[in-house]
Amino acid sequence: MIEARNITRTFTSRGAFTGSRTVHALRGVDFSLPKGGAVSFIGESGCGKTTLGKILTGLDTFDGGELVVDGTDLSKLPVGRRAPYFRRIQMIHQDPYSALNPTRDIGQILGDPLRMRARETGAGRARQSERAAELLELVGLRPGVLAKYPHQLSGGQRQRVVIARALTVDPEVLVADESVSMIDVSMRLGILALLRDLRERLGISLLFITHDVATARYIGEGGELHVIYRGQVIERGPTDRVIQEPVHPYTQCLLSAVPVLRGLEEPGPDRLVPLAALDERLPTPGCLFAPRCPFATAECSAGRPVLTAHPDADDHQHACLHPKSRRVVAVEIAAGR
Ligand SMILES: Nc1ncnc2c1ncn2[C@@H]1O[C@H](COP(=O)(O)OP(=O)(O)OP(=O)(O)O)[C@@H](O)[C@H]1O
Ligand code: SF4
Ligand SMILES: [Mg+2]
Repeated sequence: MIEARNITRTFTSRGAFTGSRTVHALRGVDFSLPKGGAVSFIGESGCGKTTLGKILTGLDTFDGGELVVDGTDLSKLPVGRRAPYFRRIQMIHQDPYSALNPTRDIGQILGDPLRMRARETGAGRARQSERAAELLELVGLRPGVLAKYPHQLSGGQRQRVVIARALTVDPEVLVADESVSMIDVSMRLGILALLRDLRERLGISLLFITHDVATARYIGEGGELHVIYRGQVIERGPTDRVIQEPVHPYTQCLLSAVPVLRGLEEPGPDRLVPLAALDERLPTPGCLFAPRCPFATAECSAGRPVLTAHPDADDHQHACLHPKSRRVVAVEIAAGR
């Protein structure tokens, strides 16, 4: 139902001391998200994850490519006529603390969008109240929460309210951008399980954005994982396969950087260098990862590798000139989560 083709987004800013600065936030991102499907994007800070989420929910625009929602190419529609399509795609933000108006109780917070929705569906007041109670139940909250204010709820409960509010407009897709990163660790699994449950029970598609391998694996089960580096997808495929048999050195670095798994990696023939800070503005004519890659050769700086199918699996693709399977995550640990 969502088809993104070659989406690009470039930001140009001018600072008093830094001069003109161009950031290629997204460099030709493609993916397709079917009904009830899950696609996760994983990558380090600044790689373009939130920019993608904002574009998909209409909070930002794209400057190249096509975004097809339910068969309609939004790039061909005037910006003012895109809203009905973006209503079907709702964003769950990272921060449940700032996402809710502290001066309104939960009944009012859910009531506003329900009233707007009722104008389209013709639902009366009684049905709106019934729907608010249904939504709370769906996200695992008691009806008593309706009378409470956001500050009276825990972080996990607030994020459930944020999810309930997104559901008021009957979306077909939820875009979850680091949705559990600001929540107490003990409550994270509950929110992740809720998102999985919504996918299974309501057939809602999930686009999950994270820098965390374990959550990507949990949410993306049976879906696709896209690894993004400096705005380019450098590896993608079925979630489990990419995690268990990564072939791109960046994916391998990302996986080997998971602290809990350190020391449990299978020793590879080569040592992977840790991720290090790099000035993203440096021009990189060839492979974007070359300045940090332990396996870079002169060839890697000549031209940028494009996504190429793995010889054993068409649906597993990588953008590396010297791909090599290196199992860096212990299977038992990953499976045990
Ligand atoms: N409005 C903007 N103006 C200028 N540059 C921007 C703007 N929004 C994003 N960027 C730049 O685009 C790049 C991608 O940003 P984005 O927020 O999408 O990254 P991210 O992967 O979500 O990072 P994080 O994990 O830290 O949230 C960054 O270099 C960022 O500085
Ligand atoms: S193309 Fe070369 S530099 Fe880029 S990831 Fe592969 S080996 Fe490393
Ligand atoms: Mg972000």
